Amino acid sequence: MVKTTVIKQLEEKRRAARMGGGQDKIDKQHESGKLTARERIEVLLDPDSFEEYGMFVEHRCSSFGMEKTRTPGDGVVTGHGTINGRSVFVYSQDFTVLGGSMSETNARKICQIMDMAMKVGAPVIGINDSGGARIQEGVDSLGGYGEIFQRNVLASGVVPQISLIMGPCAGGAVYSPALTDFTFMVRGSSYMFVTGPDVVKTVTHEEVSREELGGATVHTTKSHVADLAFDNDIDLLVQARRLFNFLPSSNRIPSPERESQDPEDRVDTTLNTLIPENPNKPYDMMELVCSVIDEGDFMELQSDYARNIITGFGRMNGSTIGVIANQPMVLAGCLDINASVKAARFIRFCDAFNVPVVTFVDVPGFLPGVHQEHHGIIKHGAKLLYAYAEATVPKITVITRKAYGGAYIVMNSKHLRGDINYAWANAEIAVMGAEGAAEILYRREDVEGLKKRTEEYREKFSNPFVAASRGFIDDVIRPQNTRWRICRALAILKDKEVDTPWKKHDNLPL
Ligand code: HXC
Repeated sequence: MVKTTVIKQLEEKRRAARMGGGQDKIDKQHESGKLTARERIEVLLDPDSFEEYGMFVEHRCSSFGMEKTRTPGDGVVTGHGTINGRSVFVYSQDFTVLGGSMSETNARKICQIMDMAMKVGAPVIGINDSGGARIQEGVDSLGGYGEIFQRNVLASGVVPQISLIMGPCAGGAVYSPALTDFTFMVRGSSYMFVTGPDVVKTVTHEEVSREELGGATVHTTKSHVADLAFDNDIDLLVQARRLFNFLPSSNRIPSPERESQDPEDRVDTTLNTLIPENPNKPYDMMELVCSVIDEGDFMELQSDYARNIITGFGRMNGSTIGVIANQPMVLAGCLDINASVKAARFIRFCDAFNVPVVTFVDVPGFLPGVHQEHHGIIKHGAKLLYAYAEATVPKITVITRKAYGGAYIVMNSKHLRGDINYAWANAEIAVMGAEGAAEILYRREDVEGLKKRTEEYREKFSNPFVAASRGFIDDVIRPQNTRWRICRALAILKDKEVDTPWKKHDNLPL
């Protein structure tokens, strides 16, 4: 029988571990608007599902007085639990213990749960709130980071990895989130940078605040480092649960099915009037996306970056799909560098984790301009082309209006192994718009002549039927039927298998 004194001792040790850096530090954390490491886990996971490991682990550093500052758990809470009943491994850095700094021991705890996640095939969620490498430990701490990075890379494409940035994340520490699949940040209390404002000032003489240098707004609008920003810890954690619900647990397990009340054969007649009569007038592609997916429940990612393309998760008939859609409301839906990279990475996630890709196309082409050319639209546009071409998941395309030039090919055309490609009856599939084509072909003609030639070109190419006659479009459909046509296409493609030539790995244009 276990002695009562031992049980008491155990309870005492657990209580001490749960207090992290002590009540003062917990109060400070709350005062700065942040939850503690353990409170965050409580919100993220299902009630009472968390099983903690390494609660009594302590560092073994004895430099700089560290022998006097030992805290059970050593500043990171690790373990596993469930979100809506599905297993997930979690680590949560505890800023109340030495600023959540990364020690050798700390890294070992994180690596342990990453290894377990890989073994059992469950996602990893990392909650980052840390002052970086534990300065007193020197290279031991750096080595720990390296071990985590290596595991991030090995886990990539095997289990989904999500990074939640809920405090400082600076120096080389930023590279673990950068290697993961999705990154969420909290506005005002989280930041990410390789070198902080002080170093920046010394080296480049630029004066910049933490928020301006690497806050959530910067990373969701400019740098493209983070996917979404939220106003507070709770909002972020609730949305992390929502994202998790769309994702499969590993590359060997299908996405979770959610029973849908939305009939798969639902028609939506409002879509018949979505496209304006004037082909140069924009409309909101989000209306189509939300109309087509189950219950309009769309989780858009990178919603504040490259808004000329929409990426995110929805469900069709209960199963997760990845949606990519040109947005005519922004830059007329043109593809540019940012949109190409944003969509390419999203497609690669979907392909790695067997999530079917549904693409809605209304694209007048690649964005022209010196800036685009000089910054490498050739290489970046190729990333999107590459991502579509290499993807072997079910790939369905609906062309709603324009599909011009190279952008027509890139946006999951039949030529890139699109499985089922639909066009709405008003779609225009051509090398370019009728006006532009007539101006090039008949530049010597007068205004009246040009008008006539434009009409001729429009008549011939500004419709989906030439492409359909070549077999580049599988069917021309009525807008109102889009949902059930996609549902049916996904059903037939459920067990799709494709062979690809043997290779060690590909050479994506980086
Ligand atoms: C040890 C640290 C620490 C660290 C913070 N603390 N960072 N201890 N190693 N890296 C301790 C502080 O001494 C303090 O202890 C407590 O955590 C809280 O820190 P405060 O400074 O009081 O908090 P705050 O004012 O909120 O400022 C947070 C901070 C700041 C901006 C993160 O602490 C800071 O600048 N820390 C150093 C950041 C840094 O340079 N890290 C190394 C980066 S290089 P007490 O006992 O006073 O409460 C790096 C390389 C990684 O990380 C490479 C990977 C490949």
